[in-house]
Amino acid sequence: MKHSRADGWDTFLRDSLAGIEKAGLLRRLRVLDSPQTTHVVSGRRRLVNFSSNDYLGLANHPALREAAVQEWEKAGYGAGASRLVCGTLAAHERLEEAIAGFKRTEAALTFSSGYAAAMGSIPAICSKEDVIILDKLCHACLVDAARLSGAHLRVFPHNDLDKLESHLQWAREKHPGSRVLVVAESVYSMDGDVAPLREIVELKDRHGAWLFLDEAHGVGVIGEGGRGLAEQTGTGDRIEIQMGTLGKALGAHGAYLAGSPRLREFLINRARSFIYSTAPPAPVAAAAVKAVEILGSREGASLIKALWHNIHFLGSIPGIPKSASAIVPVIIGGESEAMAAGEKLLAAGFLVPAIRYPTVAKGTARLRITLSATHTEEDVRRLAETLALPCFPAVS
Ligand SMILES: Cc1ncc(COP(=O)(O)O)c(C=O)c1O
Repeated sequence: MKHSRADGWDTFLRDSLAGIEKAGLLRRLRVLDSPQTTHVVSGRRRLVNFSSNDYLGLANHPALREAAVQEWEKAGYGAGASRLVCGTLAAHERLEEAIAGFKRTEAALTFSSGYAAAMGSIPAICSKEDVIILDKLCHACLVDAARLSGAHLRVFPHNDLDKLESHLQWAREKHPGSRVLVVAESVYSMDGDVAPLREIVELKDRHGAWLFLDEAHGVGVIGEGGRGLAEQTGTGDRIEIQMGTLGKALGAHGAYLAGSPRLREFLINRARSFIYSTAPPAPVAAAAVKAVEILGSREGASLIKALWHNIHFLGSIPGIPKSASAIVPVIIGGESEAMAAGEKLLAAGFLVPAIRYPTVAKGTARLRITLSATHTEEDVRRLAETLALPCFPAVS
């Protein structure tokens, strides 16, 4: 049989996958046969879902569905093209007004995902003359975006304010004419801990830098009305760029950047993931508007209260780490051990993902438990009882 040079590609794929599997890092998709809610069905098995970022149970909320269906009937599904090319649909404008109101900023711009928001905005505002200083545990989209920008990069150990300050000083000394952007999250996605935001804001102000804050896991969870850590710490008006996602606690899809009208206009003109990508469907935007409305309502307040009840309840169980957010990591260490722990939980009826390298550092593989307002105390207690069994030494 004649082999072409292209055969090398298949060998590359096969050998790479074999290497990934040998390292215990192979990832596979699990199909759900039910909506994404607290109780899911997969392969005829009923599982209590502790894996989703749907912290308030809005992903399958009837009001979001109703808003999406109504918008579908009014505006259709596909958006047709980029918002700059074929005209922006009213639902996107409504969503941006709602988000700006919710975040108490003057303006907001939405993107098709959090990944797209970061990849479009950071390389738009920073180039090779600039400096970006990131927390070590920033999400992959922030890291990728910073790299793509070509800016000088500095990484500070997680939440280490002294190191952040020395990087800021370094930037001022070595790159005196540069713009400096500090990038941090409010709640870290794999550790569930919270940034010392007031201190970060003080530092970046003292050194004349801007702050890009990703509130993906803070919005809907922290602060009055779920407005996030910026609201809770009273720093919102000092943060130049506030990012948040619409597909986590808000139960819809997409993401936003909130800030000044000038920032919005600049991003419309420069963020490539906004300019060169088809707009999200209008029904998705309408569902997100409804989610923002719910957050501002009595129902939203009681959902946030129920979520915090579950966070405190799980944290009060001996052996379970306490968390300052809806994310509770149980560190296992080895990648295969973490996978085995996830499988045991699955056998016991719980969907809890094992998180491994490269999402977290090697040797810090973990079970990532996420809580939702819609878990019952019974769901949470049963999970904790299972984790207390001797086969889970990380907890028991
Ligand atoms: C901190 C953080 N930022 C951004 C994103 C990306 O958001 P999206 O899923 O909307 O692309 C995620 C997603 O997991 C995240 O955890």
